[in-house]
Amino acid sequence: MMLDVSDVTVSYGPFLAVDRASLQVGAGETVGLAGTNGAGKSTLFAAIAGQIMADAGRMVFDGHAIMNHPAHQRARLGLCRTFQVPREFGRLSVLENLLVAAPGDRMETMWSAWFARGAMRHKTQQLTVQADGILEMLGMSGLRDLPAAGLSGGQKKLLELARVLMHRPRLILLDEPFAGVNPVRIGEVMEIFRRLKDSGIALLIVEHHLQALKALSSRLYVMDQGRVIAQGDPAEVLASRIVQDAYMGGVL
Ligand SMILES: Nc1ncnc2c1ncn2[C@@H]1O[C@H](COP(=O)(O)OP(=O)(O)OP(=O)(O)O)[C@@H](O)[C@H]1O
Ligand SMILES: [Mg+2]
Repeated sequence: MMLDVSDVTVSYGPFLAVDRASLQVGAGETVGLAGTNGAGKSTLFAAIAGQIMADAGRMVFDGHAIMNHPAHQRARLGLCRTFQVPREFGRLSVLENLLVAAPGDRMETMWSAWFARGAMRHKTQQLTVQADGILEMLGMSGLRDLPAAGLSGGQKKLLELARVLMHRPRLILLDEPFAGVNPVRIGEVMEIFRRLKDSGIALLIVEHHLQALKALSSRLYVMDQGRVIAQGDPAEVLASRIVQDAYMGGVL
């Protein structure tokens, strides 16, 4: 398994948001994570990506025990996430948003900007080529030079993904990538995820759009009140009694 999370617990003060959750993602696999509002999905993502520290459990990514790694170190190993609420820089252009997302030591970047402007220009050119390739793949080339603030909700979601792709990730945790996406464009976004999978990138997708999740994922986990309550074949999991009860028949 590329990602092996076992018995991870996360609390906010006295409140247990994630309760001994375990999940695995294989290399190149697309896995879904569903669950009602407040189930702990985003909290588990934050713990896996390193924005918050888990209280207990084990996490192994690509053979590395990552529990105590800071987020940037996990990203360097190829483990990246997008956020439920996009975090673009509104005044920067779409292209600039990608350039500033590129990994790199900021002090080093500043020194080389000062001492070796030529080298810096070369680096920026390389990153621009990479960014243009990503924008092309996501069908966003036409938005390249527009300020990010003017993008639609769905386009901002794609910009989140584009920024993450600058890290050349091997596993991306996607937090509600279809939220705010115009329903007529959901098929296009699904197609993008299929292309990412074909390029060998593993995906772990949190989503309330269960039909899309079912269509994309080879396996599905469901969380409820901090716990993983079901896992396995997506259609079987969604039809199971325990999942139906958790959703109280409302969403399914
Ligand atoms: N910073 C925080 N401080 C305290 N409690 C929090 C914090 N963030 C989340 N919670 C609580 O932890 C629980 C899990 O929240 P989380 O955002 O992980 O759920 P989720 O499954 O992602 O929900 P949604 O589907 O609505 O995004 C919720 O009860 C939430 O209110
Ligand atoms: Mg969430």
